Formats: sequence, C-alpha cells, structure tokens
Amino acid sequence: MNAFTHIQDPVMPLPVETKGFTVSPSKQSPRLLELTFTKEIVDAFVSAVAQWPVQALEYKSFLRFRVGQILDELCEGTLRPVLLNTILDRATGGMLVTPQGLCDVTQADDMVKFSSAIAHLIGRSNFDAMSGQFYARFVVVNTDNSDSYLRQPHRVMELHNDGTFVKEHTDYVLMMKIDEQNMVGGNTLLLHLDDWEEIDSYFSHPLARREMRFTAPPSKNVREDVFHPVFDNDDQGRPTMRYIDQFVQPQDFEEGIWLNAMSESIEGSQKKLSVPVPVGSFVLVNNMFWLHGRDRFTPHPELRRELMRQRGYISYQKTLYKRGQ
Ligand SMILES: [Fe+2]
Repeated sequence: MNAFTHIQDPVMPLPVETKGFTVSPSKQSPRLLELTFTKEIVDAFVSAVAQWPVQALEYKSFLRFRVGQILDELCEGTLRPVLLNTILDRATGGMLVTPQGLCDVTQADDMVKFSSAIAHLIGRSNFDAMSGQFYARFVVVNTDNSDSYLRQPHRVMELHNDGTFVKEHTDYVLMMKIDEQNMVGGNTLLLHLDDWEEIDSYFSHPLARREMRFTAPPSKNVREDVFHPVFDNDDQGRPTMRYIDQFVQPQDFEEGIWLNAMSESIEGSQKKLSVPVPVGSFVLVNNMFWLHGRDRFTPHPELRRELMRQRGYISYQKTLYKRGQ
C-alpha cells in the first residue's frame, strides 16, 4: 500500500517516491507512521551540520530552519511534504522517526540537531521554560523528588496533551529517547482522539466548553495560570483537546467529578497504543488530536533514561501551495 493514499487533504504536493527515508504504517496502528532514515542520509546530515554546535542553534533561531533545509535537500525535497501532510492529516498525525546510526548517548548533540531539523520543517519549536531553550533534555533515574510525574519512573504518566498551561500554541510534540540503561517497561502510550470509545459523550457535554484553570507546578517555571476549555474543535468541527490531569484545577464539585470520570474513561480505553521507542528514535504527534503518556518502569538501582522534547506550532507558507494538489 502506498502509505499516503489515505491523506484526504494534503497541503503540499506529495512526492511519488521518497528519497533517503521510508514511510510505513507502524505495527501498533495505521495512524502512527514509521519514518526510517537510512544511515547514509543520517551520516551526510551529521557531517553537513558539523560546523554548528548545538549552541549555535540555541543562539541563532534561523539556523534551526537551515538544518531542516539541509536534511530536506539530502532527501531531494521529498521530506517536507511528507512531514507536513502527515502531521496535519487527521487520519494519522503521528510518526515514529528513526535516524539509523544515531543510537548512542555519545551522539546526543547530533540527535538534537536531527530532531530540530525535522521540527523546523513543519513549524517552530517554542521556548521551553523548564530548560530555557527551544528543547529540553531531562533524565529519569531510580529516585526522584520532583513535583510532577514527568521524572517519576515507577508509575504511569497518564494520557495528556502538552502545552496546557502556556499561552503559546502547542500543535506538535516531539519526544526523543537519548539514553536508556537498565530499563524494563516505560513504553510511550498514545491515544488518537478518534479511537477513544467514549469521546462523543465527553465532547458533547456542557462542561466540555467551559473555561477551566490550568496551573503548572514550580519546576515548570511558568508562574501564570491559563484558562481554556478542555475541548475545542478544528476547522471541520472535529474534537481537539488541551487536557492534562495533573495541572487542571477544577473550580467546583461538578467540574472535579466530570474530570475524574473523563480521566478514567481515557485511561480505560482499549485503543491506547503502547510504543517502544529505541534510543535515537522519537515520536512526533499532532498535539491537538493525540494524547500521550508513559507506561511504568520496573525499578532498578542503575536505571537511567534521558529524553529530549520539543513542542511548537505548525507553520508553512500557505500561499505557496495549493491544497489538494
Ligand atoms: Fe507530555
């Protein structure tokens, strides 16, 4: 099957054939596509961007777009249309990306550059207040005293959207595995909103559109509360969500009970995907209609996992491309 045939409404002309990478449905779901880059392309990219340390990308925002362009050029212009069409396509909107040959923590800087290239072919990564950069690297170890479940290994991080407590648009989430030692479990959990069995009853509920308060814990370095409803819709009326169980602050009994029931419904979905993400690979999903989380790990004294994330908005020059071409 041509992996692109289901795309209803491409924003850019799709290539007949991809160069330097393959696209195929994942084992877990046809909604999650696997993009695998050949080692040859990855090596060529790494040497082409070797002149810029990651710090250069931190200091000069436009270089993030330039490294994206370099990767797309190596793929003979076939990459950007696939990325943009997939991230925007309601039927999919999710990718597991594997750059072959980037698979060891000693290559962490190249992993940051590669994932930054991908992110800046679809939009721009937002400032991450937790790290003070456009990306955040963080480590999960066996003991943790943090103030959210982000770095606590022994429990499930429930399904949620990112960016619920910031004002910026958070259209996409990119989560990369940089290192993993002595880890059993901890798969990425994903749920596409159109697969959630009970979404209609929550999306049509009067509280779905009520503004609720979202507050981040101190480690997020975000001081201001933001107010927005849990549900919204896209330009075709389909549900979108901005929800996270840990940071939504129900104002009364009615909201609290509704949110709790919704949380149980989401967590109880049989359509959750459990996706192992190897070191060097990353998940890239449309944050408006995919929920993500993390399964629990098995405790181990030498456990170590390092992750990198980028969140941002999707943007392209709409006037340059005719829809449906
Ligand atoms: Fe998250």
